[in-house]
Amino acid sequence: MDDQERADAFYAHVSGGGKVEADDWMPDDYRAAVLKFVEMHANSELMGVLPEREWILRAPTLKRKLALTSKVQDEVGHAQLLYRVAEDLGKPREQMLADLMAGKTKFHNVFHYPTRSWGDVGIIAWLVDAAAIVSQQALRDSSYAPYARTMKKICWEESVHIMHGRDVVLTLMNGSPRQREMVQEALDRWWGPLMQMHGPPTDPATDRDLIWKIKAKGNEQLRQEFLSIYVPRIWELGLTIPDAALRHDDGEGRWQYTEPDWAELRSVVTGHGPMSQERLEFRRTSHAATQWVRDAVLGASSAAA
Ligand SMILES: [Fe+2]
Ligand SMILES: [Fe+2]
Repeated sequence: MDDQERADAFYAHVSGGGKVEADDWMPDDYRAAVLKFVEMHANSELMGVLPEREWILRAPTLKRKLALTSKVQDEVGHAQLLYRVAEDLGKPREQMLADLMAGKTKFHNVFHYPTRSWGDVGIIAWLVDAAAIVSQQALRDSSYAPYARTMKKICWEESVHIMHGRDVVLTLMNGSPRQREMVQEALDRWWGPLMQMHGPPTDPATDRDLIWKIKAKGNEQLRQEFLSIYVPRIWELGLTIPDAALRHDDGEGRWQYTEPDWAELRSVVTGHGPMSQERLEFRRTSHAATQWVRDAVLGASSAAA
């Protein structure tokens, strides 16, 4: 078989639902596409802890502090697992961290925004993690088998994060008028970024990640799923969603909503969000401050070898 025939056979395999392991032969463009996808996911798990960590010291009770600390630890663990998956595709971890810190690679839009109140902690753990789990559950069917297996483990932990977030929100909603206002104000700020999070609709005929089954569902399908599950739950708590056009169109069987601000999404994920530079600077500072640990560990392992 020449290279073209080999690639054709590979793409027929993945399009037909076949799986790929790390040591299987794969065409360069498939490898590059999986790497880009997983690397951005890993970056997002790592950067996603920064908005939440700011609230560990300000958590209202010991129980809340422990739960939030555990969630932050879980997310860093997700980054570890995903950088390992990405590393096997040929890009060293140090290079991925260097590219992230230099602003050359991306992380999800929602992690470029500030957290202003304890209400944000609830809204992030409940709804940002919910929007994420909708796409992560679909990734359990990814054609790249190491990624699919990793997502199975991650989804278990994400479902606990959502329970934690919903409990924070429920407690505030059952509290004082000021606490209810805090949740509503947080929802008002997070709704736009949440609606942008899955990205603009793509054409299934040209979306290579879909054709190669790196991801199993398109952006709009994921957004519709998120709305179907969570809009009724948000309304059930007496919260108002800040989009007057949001409604379920029973005839078409889909949610109608105001077009999300795609220009804002593009600007934010390319490092122009309200907290993008501050968060990257924090990552660079902590990377430099922990250099001695890597030196000690790597020095010790090379001395022992
Ligand atoms: Fe996570
Ligand atoms: Fe999470």
